Amino acid sequence: METHLDPFTSHQVITVSDPDAGLRAVIALDDLTLGPGFGGVRMRPYPTPAAAIEEAQRLARAMTFKHALAELPYGGAKSVIVADGRGLEGDARRRLFEAFGDAVARTNGRYIPGVDMATTLADMSVVRERGATVYCADADPSPWTARGVYAAMRAAVRGVLDSPDLSGVRVAVQGVGAVGGELARLVAADGGELVLADVDANRAETLAAELGGRAVPTSEIATTECDVFAPAAIARVVTADVVPQLRCRLVAGAANDTLDGPDIDAALLARGITFVPDYVANAGGVIHEHARAMGWTDERLAEAVDAIGDRVLDLVAEAGPGGSLVDAAERRGRARLAAGAGA
Ligand code: NAI
Repeated sequence: METHLDPFTSHQVITVSDPDAGLRAVIALDDLTLGPGFGGVRMRPYPTPAAAIEEAQRLARAMTFKHALAELPYGGAKSVIVADGRGLEGDARRRLFEAFGDAVARTNGRYIPGVDMATTLADMSVVRERGATVYCADADPSPWTARGVYAAMRAAVRGVLDSPDLSGVRVAVQGVGAVGGELARLVAADGGELVLADVDANRAETLAAELGGRAVPTSEIATTECDVFAPAAIARVVTADVVPQLRCRLVAGAANDTLDGPDIDAALLARGITFVPDYVANAGGVIHEHARAMGWTDERLAEAVDAIGDRVLDLVAEAGPGGSLVDAAERRGRARLAAGAGA
């Protein structure tokens, strides 16, 4: 996808270079109106330095809106470490994350990292040792992410499809890992009919057998006939080519960056398909990190995660029949940012 972000829209972009430690990284602070920038550290190869910078900025922007919509006191940020394709273990890995931790510490708490693709809790402990503030609860956020996605899905089914719960609603889940697997269990417990797919076909088949659903090949999951398509694996699965082939009425899942570009939401609506913004539905993970940092009880955390459902119902009401939940969410996010930290 081409960049649609003006590179100067970020509050600050920091590039980090430490040749001795083999570190090349980008820290993007998108908007700090609501608090320090919080967002994970992603490590992967990039075709060009510009691609690394663009990804950090784009993901940081999504975090701004994720936090604004979830009413969390954080700005949006994200960082990427450019991996050179070699496996990185032991001392070399430690040195790299020490150097990265030094760079994070120099932001004086304006950037709070956490885990993301290919980084681990152990890496974050090294970052913390260097004096950086790190959010990384010891517990896995995935069940909370799944709970939030389920709340969002249920609300959208109620608000858009006019169905009181998921009984008889067919849900196609793409990727039954930590989030998708738990989401499938919640859907099944609510009477939903499951269609599951995973690149690990055995994983999808075993879960389908356990929950009474059907497993299909990954090539078929997006276009399977269903009420709700729930992407819970990889980014940008809803492309301009996929839209005409979809046979669902809602897209509501966990995968960050589900839509391949800014025009896709309108293309979906033109086909009568409503998209629940991923950053609204999957905020259970960041709510969990905040709750652990603040010492909330599980009851309070559950309440905050379930409130994602109310938020989706509000967006449905604001968007009106056939309206865009993405536009409604962006309006809300912008209003919250305009009102500032006290909002
Ligand atoms: P995971 O790695 O536990 O599960 C992903 C699953 O998708 C795996 O079972 C994998 O085999 C499968 N998969 C990979 N490529 C696939 C493909 N092309 N088609 C079908 N299946 C495929 O990851 P997790 O934690 O469940 O995350 C799922 C999605 O949710 C990711 O996009 C992640 O960014 C997003 N997310 C996760 C959060 C969390 O708390 N874990 C928080 C917010 C977003």
